[in-house]
Amino acid sequence: MTKKVVIDTDPGTDDALALIMALNSPELDIQGMTSVAGNARLADTTRNTLRLMNHLGHPNMPVAQGASRPLRGKFNYGYNYHGPRGLPVELVTTKSRPRSLRAPEYINSIGYSFPEEFVIIALGPLTNVARAIQREPRLVSWIKEIVVMGGAVEIGGNVTPYAEFNIWNDPHAANVVFDSGVPVTLVGLDVCVQVAFGRDDSDWREGQTTGGRLAADVLATWFTETHPDLDQYALCDPLAVAASIEPELLETKSATVSAEQEDAETYGQTRATYGDGNVKVALGVDVDRARAFVLERINSTH
Ligand code: RIB
Ligand code: CA
Repeated sequence: MTKKVVIDTDPGTDDALALIMALNSPELDIQGMTSVAGNARLADTTRNTLRLMNHLGHPNMPVAQGASRPLRGKFNYGYNYHGPRGLPVELVTTKSRPRSLRAPEYINSIGYSFPEEFVIIALGPLTNVARAIQREPRLVSWIKEIVVMGGAVEIGGNVTPYAEFNIWNDPHAANVVFDSGVPVTLVGLDVCVQVAFGRDDSDWREGQTTGGRLAADVLATWFTETHPDLDQYALCDPLAVAASIEPELLETKSATVSAEQEDAETYGQTRATYGDGNVKVALGVDVDRARAFVLERINSTH
């Protein structure tokens, strides 16, 4: 049974690995992608999405451009982590251009076409998804599930001691999504920092397919040029894609979740009240199975 999905993304090195996996996964019937700023400026993340689709053999994949700013304030880009312009490698240019519909309207168009049937995989700040819900309230009954890479519930953050990058970049949007009542699977740092490729691992370097070779190139460049100081690469966005296909890789607890949007020190922190709630918070992961799944999907041909 395939799932109709829209992937919202801010490529971003781990987004790139996640998109390679998604395109190699027959379980995902990808309707299109929406770009959001976050790891880089919107122009960079949109260009990277279009060039990745072209490089991976999907030049006609619909790509709708989204938010250059969060619902309030400005984005704080992740260049220091992902490299100049969001990726440490230069992909070939493409004639592909974003669709005329902006991301929120594109997401809503998929809802009109496939009510109660489509899944959103959100790999960046949640601004596009929040705007789609704000502009079309019926969307919340049309979305089957949102798999969110974001949050840090029972552990510290990666941009502050409290907050994870995607949520920290737009906590107001995160609260629109969390409060909407849509079923959310929250794949946060609690689980994704445990699933990693190591600098000295050889398996991720052995890619034979277009996607496998691109992933190896991105990672090798990241380890040597972008981050000679780090020995582990956390597979956060790839784990969100893996969880959308094999949810049993994760152990989750139902909760209501909120993101701190006022206090300066804890801004972007995700807090869970366990019990009834629309959010399944991922608190455990089968690390070996998840890492093997990511590696297999990066290197498979679909
Ligand atoms: O905190 C990790 C998340 O922030 C990932 O989605 C990564 O791509 C960055 O956007
Ligand atoms: Ca991302």
